[in-house]
Amino acid sequence: MPDLTGEAEIALRRYRSETLQYAPLLGLAPLREWICNYLQVDGVKVSPEQIIIVNGAKHGLDLICRLLLDPGDCVAVTAPTYFTGIPIIRSYGVEFIEVPQDEEGMSVDTLHHQIERRKRENRPAPKLIYDIPDFHNPTGITMSKRRRLQLVELAASLGVAIVEDSPYREIRFTGAQVPSLKSLDTNDSVFQLGTFSKLMAPGLRIGWIAATQENIERIGRLKSDGGTCPLTQRIIYEYCAAGKLASHLDLVRKRYQEHRDTMIASLTSFTPKMRFKAPDGGYYIWARLPREMDSNLFAKQALARGVELFSGEQFFVGKFADYPVNSAAGSGYVRLSFSFASPAQIEAGIARLMDLLPNDRAVSRDKM
Ligand SMILES: Cc1ncc(COP(=O)(O)O)c(C=O)c1O
Repeated sequence: MPDLTGEAEIALRRYRSETLQYAPLLGLAPLREWICNYLQVDGVKVSPEQIIIVNGAKHGLDLICRLLLDPGDCVAVTAPTYFTGIPIIRSYGVEFIEVPQDEEGMSVDTLHHQIERRKRENRPAPKLIYDIPDFHNPTGITMSKRRRLQLVELAASLGVAIVEDSPYREIRFTGAQVPSLKSLDTNDSVFQLGTFSKLMAPGLRIGWIAATQENIERIGRLKSDGGTCPLTQRIIYEYCAAGKLASHLDLVRKRYQEHRDTMIASLTSFTPKMRFKAPDGGYYIWARLPREMDSNLFAKQALARGVELFSGEQFFVGKFADYPVNSAAGSGYVRLSFSFASPAQIEAGIARLMDLLPNDRAVSRDKM
């Protein structure tokens, strides 16, 4: 976590009337400008009028849903997807289309076929496609450029909006950056969510939406929270404008890479029956349990041993759906997070999982 005491002091001493008053509806002007420059470096051309500051990416997702969705609409998500996104989207009374992923990310061909089939059945096409193209939560997959192009083309041809939720984009350890969906979009289909949660600290609760000016203004009219906290916005701006973010991110990448490498080494030596693909960045490893194992039970037993991990089932909309879905796949997976725990804790934690797996040294499944 960055030390923000100096910036907090500047914010409260020099900008008292700004930071303790209601904020401008769309956010502090200098922060919106800073975000534009930051996005520009990443190939996204937007002006400050195309940015709204929100209380984190989740709030941004909620506002986009409020803008676009009506009960009975349909939303496409990957299977699995970010579990906190599911109830947000679902609260708008929509139906989900689950789209499988492979190592290149969301299968756009499958999505296209699903939409064609729905058309033949007189069912609506999705109004919105939600995805996490960089170091996906929970799978860690990064979508290839080829797929990204395919996705923005499909969305443009059908007039469907895309929500690009990419909080882990900067946390790349290996491999080359892939252009964002927003940077490839020539049709204004993409609403890009950004957040300082993973860049700086989640408790700050500051994020943004980048979209067309018209949509940003409409979202501004729907944002009924009295404005996102100006004190926090000013603190973040002072930190970023002083050029401190780059070195902080270098440190974050270095630390988390060590964490990831420790987790991979521990999984390889202690739990070789858990299968996974090493992610190039982000926070997560998506691991497959041996075939007959139940991931809910596994997560419970891990917790009883002091190891917190998430059962794969939580990342599928089927878990929350009241209609038939194809989500059984989630039950054999768990999501392991390497960001918060120290390398020593990661090693000790994975070693404790060893006893839960059916191998020569372990307790058998019947005894678990
Ligand atoms: C896919 C995804 N979106 C958004 C967030 C965070 O959102 P916020 O900016 O609201 O903290 C996370 C954090 O876990 C995430 O994994």
